[in-house]
Amino acid sequence: MSNVNDFIELLRRRRSIRKFAPERVGEETVGLLVEALLRAPSSRGINPWEFVVVDDTELLSSLSRSKRHGSEFLKGAPLAIVVCADSTKSDVWIEDCSIASIIVQMAALSLGLGSCWVQIRNRPHDGNKSAEDYVRELLGMPEDVVVESIVGIGRPGERKRAIPAGDLQYEKVKRNRYDHGFRED
Ligand SMILES: Cc1cc2nc3c(=O)[nH]c(=O)nc-3n(C[C@H](O)[C@H](O)[C@H](O)COP(=O)(O)O)c2cc1C
Repeated sequence: MSNVNDFIELLRRRRSIRKFAPERVGEETVGLLVEALLRAPSSRGINPWEFVVVDDTELLSSLSRSKRHGSEFLKGAPLAIVVCADSTKSDVWIEDCSIASIIVQMAALSLGLGSCWVQIRNRPHDGNKSAEDYVRELLGMPEDVVVESIVGIGRPGERKRAIPAGDLQYEKVKRNRYDHGFRED
């Protein structure tokens, strides 16, 4: 067996956590999460992203109503980070925001916290309004600020089993040519 480093171990344990213990995330930890966000790579180093750190219970409750399905767990989260961007600054803000979102999720995991991504971009709030407009209005964001995701974070209130190595979809990985499986001779 080769030596496996801490980051690979972390990846092996990574699961989406949607239930949280009620306690607040300490300010020092929030500071580390924000540092992780600001260290995320972005295309051409433009850093089009912006982040709203939400720890206000009322706002978390309102954010949990962003979508009909898939955002409700934010009501029980002590912390949420809204990942948004000035879309006029970069044509690849979606990629940049996605990278920042997963980086903060992995940083949270490394700090003993659980997290889950809530998709906001391209999702409806209801029949009349997009989830993005709902979040934009709720948090007082200007028109040209677009919203990718909300990452709910807190001390895990549920345990999830790691995905067994045998369940990984190696058939999706090719070697050199698309018609040659990664594990074929
Ligand atoms: C782009 C993206 C959007 C997601 N949107 C939501 C969402 O809106 N609500 C939610 O509860 N989970 C959401 N998730 C979490 C996925 O449901 C979860 O990652 C997937 O089911 C696999 O489970 P795991 O993360 O525990 O391995 C999203 C994940 C990604 C990467």
